[in-house]
Amino acid sequence: MATPTHTSDDASPTVTLIDNQSQKRIELAILPSNEGPDVIDVRNLYRDMNYFTYDPGFTSTASCDSAITFIDGEKGILLHRGYSIEELASRSDFLEVAYLLIQGELPSKKQRQKFDAEIQLHTMVDEQLISFYNGFRRDAHPMAIMVGVVGALSAFYHDSLDIKDLAQCHLASMRLISKMPTIAAMAYKYTMGQPFVYPDNELTYSENFLRMMFSVPAQEYVPNPVLSRALDRIFILHADHEQNASTSTVRLAGSSQANPFACIAAGIASLWGPAHGGANEAVLNMLNEIGHKDNIHEFIARAKDKNDPFRLMGFGHRVYKNHDPRAQVLRESAHEVLTELGSTEQPLFELAMELERIALEDDYFIEKKLFPNVDFYSGIILKAMGFPTSMFTVLFAVARTAGWVSQWNEMINEPVHKIGRPRQRYIGYGLREYVPTEKR
Ligand code: SDX
Repeated sequence: MATPTHTSDDASPTVTLIDNQSQKRIELAILPSNEGPDVIDVRNLYRDMNYFTYDPGFTSTASCDSAITFIDGEKGILLHRGYSIEELASRSDFLEVAYLLIQGELPSKKQRQKFDAEIQLHTMVDEQLISFYNGFRRDAHPMAIMVGVVGALSAFYHDSLDIKDLAQCHLASMRLISKMPTIAAMAYKYTMGQPFVYPDNELTYSENFLRMMFSVPAQEYVPNPVLSRALDRIFILHADHEQNASTSTVRLAGSSQANPFACIAAGIASLWGPAHGGANEAVLNMLNEIGHKDNIHEFIARAKDKNDPFRLMGFGHRVYKNHDPRAQVLRESAHEVLTELGSTEQPLFELAMELERIALEDDYFIEKKLFPNVDFYSGIILKAMGFPTSMFTVLFAVARTAGWVSQWNEMINEPVHKIGRPRQRYIGYGLREYVPTEKR
């Protein structure tokens, strides 16, 4: 695989920027991408032209080089290290995808066995952490617990904090992927007032998580293969997604050389927002608020009303402007799970499909290219599987930890470490004198 260069050289094609006021001009190199748009290297713009670029929300800005995930928003394509999300969702499993994201290649049988053994080694958490949970109110949102507990891991695992020691970076990466299900299940059990369930390394990653979530000491727990397969597919579909808000948060935190646990805690905080990973919880709340398909048109009208802050949760995406390939896989998975379970959530699923049908026939959604995203169907499956709405984003965080860790490692292994430090377009006061209180 040809690796694009960081640096521009004389042979690079260029664009010329001419300042029509001063007639100053600059040649900006075009750096090639392997897939998707090439990039214009503006790193010398401020030095040579005394201008900043301006791109709130980074809609047209590449923040880094990455070889992990490629998204084509127009064609609805999502590749992880070159493999399509559709193939991985149907033929792989979550831990294999986690290995692929971190190492760049699908594991051999021996490599997979070694990886599984490493993950199994770290599924438990320091027993002292249990008292940490007791500091939360029972009605704490589980994402609040996740942010706190994951950030606190740096207070326990001192032998995996040094980001300049690649062995410690690897150890922290394994601990994070391995412990997230345990920490997440403990957050749920704590809010339920039920005893924590220790991991069982005889089970697969997803089976283990379901058991830690739903088993109780009073009765035997038998994993349901349909549910564990559906959950594993949900984890695969949420594993990584290029430079989204939470991944960019992890990278920015990591650029200051913060320890890996603090970086992932920052990513969890960012993912919590309803415009991002919190949307799956918001979709269920919205569907329950709509209640019946007769009310759909009222909510569609509200979503289109500029004076109404209401948005159709689970619709739209910064990058996908055709369809989110993950939503299509999840729609099929939702149908399988609800059919298998004969779930009471069937009416909610039918309401969601009717909402999707009506929205996709509406000019507003067609013109603005608003399609169901990954969060639109995931919540329905999770609710049918018995997860409370408040746990939906927690599951997103469990899965996305594989992506956050792979992106963080990619950044840590960059030959040149630069702290992320965006500039601004200053629109405030110029210098002015202090005014004493009596004269204000
Ligand atoms: C995730 O980035 C990632 O990769 C994220 C993610 C991942 O895997 O990491 O894919 C996960 O975050 C999925 C998105 C989950 N969020 C939601 O479902 C919340 C609802 N969606 C919107 O908030 C919105 O669509 C965003 C935030 C997802 C994307 O917003 P953009 O790209 O910044 O676009 P925008 O807010 O500027 O909207 C463009 C127009 C606006 O209208 P105009 O001002 O141009 O007239 O579309 C409208 C918006 O009002 N619009 C919507 C809408 N989303 C956008 N109108 C109604 N309902 C919506 N959902």
